[in-house]
Amino acid sequence: MENSTSVNAFILLGFSNVSDFKLLFFIVFLCIYLVTVFGNVIIIVIISVDAALHTPMYFFLRNLSFLEICYTSVTIPKLLENIVALDKTISLRACATQMYFFLFFGATECCLLAIMAYDRYIAICNPLRYSVIMRKRACVHFAALSWACGCLVAVGHTTFIFHLPFCDSKVINHFFCEIQPVLKLVCGDTYWNEIQIIVAAAFVILMPFMLILMSYFHIISTILRMQSAQSRQKAFSTCSSHLVVVSLFYGTAIFIYIRPKSSYSLNVDKLLSLFYSVITPILNPIIYSLRNKEVKGALRKTVLKLIPSN
Ligand SMILES: *[C@@H]1O[C@H](CO)[C@@H](O)[C@H](O)[C@H]1NC(C)=O
Repeated sequence: MENSTSVNAFILLGFSNVSDFKLLFFIVFLCIYLVTVFGNVIIIVIISVDAALHTPMYFFLRNLSFLEICYTSVTIPKLLENIVALDKTISLRACATQMYFFLFFGATECCLLAIMAYDRYIAICNPLRYSVIMRKRACVHFAALSWACGCLVAVGHTTFIFHLPFCDSKVINHFFCEIQPVLKLVCGDTYWNEIQIIVAAAFVILMPFMLILMSYFHIISTILRMQSAQSRQKAFSTCSSHLVVVSLFYGTAIFIYIRPKSSYSLNVDKLLSLFYSVITPILNPIIYSLRNKEVKGALRKTVLKLIPSN
């Protein structure tokens, strides 16, 4: 335990192995961040303004957009700072805070995406009972449940990891305080800690993922039975784009969190975790909304309203 008292800061390595492209990296991530925030803000505004979009699906979508803004704001600004800063240290407290919020928003997203798939399942496979099941209050409860679940996961993992003793090594080979690279710095055998993480991850990631797969399985088999080829094609195109984002998000998360330590390669992990921490937040607004006629129509209406007609 003596060693552990000396550690009060870590060094976040980030992408310093490619420091030749510092400026390029900075510009790329800055653009990704701005587009993510801007795109999601637009979605929140449109859904709030347009009364035609006050349905359960758009309630969840607005919640997801809000979540994505929070989620990217945990990692990218710190990454940007880290790219330009000469001093790459991060205090223990800052690291714990970042891990807490990352897990909070990440786990919430896992649950919220599952609820959104369930919403589509009821809408397509059980349309007559849709308005009964997805009442306003139920939607608020479903969303609140996701946030509560995320909070619980984050509190559990973060307090758990930051109560372990850290050794002398301080270098985190990652661009944010992610679980595995921090766990690598813990003194002694972390076998049981990893088992616990895998079990918790299985609950938080695999269960929603299974629910999503089941929902889409039912949705697709319902679509296949539809009469008109046009509505079949339309339903297919929305579902397939949802499935692509969902698979990217859950696929990389499953690969990162649910596997034995012996297969870790932090450099590969660092790149893969870009998918769930950076890429999906920017894809979600595009796929869930801008490919959607209702949202595009609402956007046009809102813009026209803002332009004075004289
Ligand atoms: C998201 O859902 C939670 C819980 O129902 C609610 O408190 C929050 O206001 C919602 N946020 C947005 C932007 O809709």
